[in-house]
Amino acid sequence: MQKVLVTGGGGYIGSHICVELAAHGFLPVVVDNFCASDRRILERAQRLAGRALVVHELDCRDTTRLREVLQREGDIFGVIHLAAHKSVGVSVQQPREYYDNNIGSLLSLLAAMEGASIERLVFSSSCTVYGQPKQVPVTEQSPIERAESPYGRTKQICEAILNDVVASGAGLRGVTLRYFNPVGAHPSGLIGELPLGRPETLVPYITQTAAGLRDELTVFGSDYPTRDGTCVRDYLHILDLASAHVAALEWLGRSSGGPCNEVFNLGTGAGVSVLEAITAFEAVSGVRLRYRLGPRRPGDAVEVYANVDKARQQLGWVARLGVHDALRDAWRWQQAIGRGL
Ligand code: WQD
Repeated sequence: MQKVLVTGGGGYIGSHICVELAAHGFLPVVVDNFCASDRRILERAQRLAGRALVVHELDCRDTTRLREVLQREGDIFGVIHLAAHKSVGVSVQQPREYYDNNIGSLLSLLAAMEGASIERLVFSSSCTVYGQPKQVPVTEQSPIERAESPYGRTKQICEAILNDVVASGAGLRGVTLRYFNPVGAHPSGLIGELPLGRPETLVPYITQTAAGLRDELTVFGSDYPTRDGTCVRDYLHILDLASAHVAALEWLGRSSGGPCNEVFNLGTGAGVSVLEAITAFEAVSGVRLRYRLGPRRPGDAVEVYANVDKARQQLGWVARLGVHDALRDAWRWQQAIGRGL
């Protein structure tokens, strides 16, 4: 059984990826410092995976400890690097921590991987690298505009680091996955997103409002030049996001070329507005959502959704679920945690 190291594997995205890896015969090895994840999620992920997950609690910036783990684990097929801070808003308040953690973790991991002669890397990037795209849908060749936040800039810098390491001739074979908006939860209701404190992102704010934990949702801006005046995004079900990581690893396993860093958009290819997401949620939950139309949120892009041809053609991956499925599963998860995690 091939081992795959998953940094940040204890988090929302990482736990779903570990379950999907196990379902495809890989053995996930989790590295996490649990600064933004709850160990109980991993325990549930183990139940879904049908096997115990190896877990190493450490900060990826600790290269010495990371080297020890790679040494101890022996033959590792590849690494999926998720460990990073990911809040756009917090990154504006704490830029130094974001640069130190997001960039420091990648540099430390690359050093440890080189020392252990591990070449396959799947890197978690974000559509945020596109900034405010001038044209949608966005392809992998769309220009990289000025990022709207330090968070987005850390992802741009990490992608540049990977490109430069590949260009240096180091034996790195990378896939960079630019996530659009990951949403939803595992349909079992056992694992899902656990925002720390007040949710910054739309879907958990919707489900917490519907659950009565928030008074009402504020729609950030209703005067944008879009079909209904609200921002448009590409909401990707977390199960589809997870399966794309397996497809990326298998692509790396098949391709025998030299050093590379291949970039893929991960989205559905469909844009959904905030008001459309609210309507979809009401349809799948039967709950009328309390919301008001409020002012724009600084830094928001008007419309961002993916052209996903490249992932379909080269990875053989396509999103199979839509925003209704994601909102249904997010609501099931919210109700489950309402009964106690
Ligand atoms: C979506 C839409 C908001 C909350 C960010 C990161 C991205 C990724 C996902 C890490 C926007 C509107 C939101 C609310 C609202 N994270 N909204 N009321 O900003 O598209 O993407 O999270 O990779 O990198 O940039 O996601 O969910 O915050 O916002 O009206 O209470 O919902 O204005 O139009 P975003 P989001």
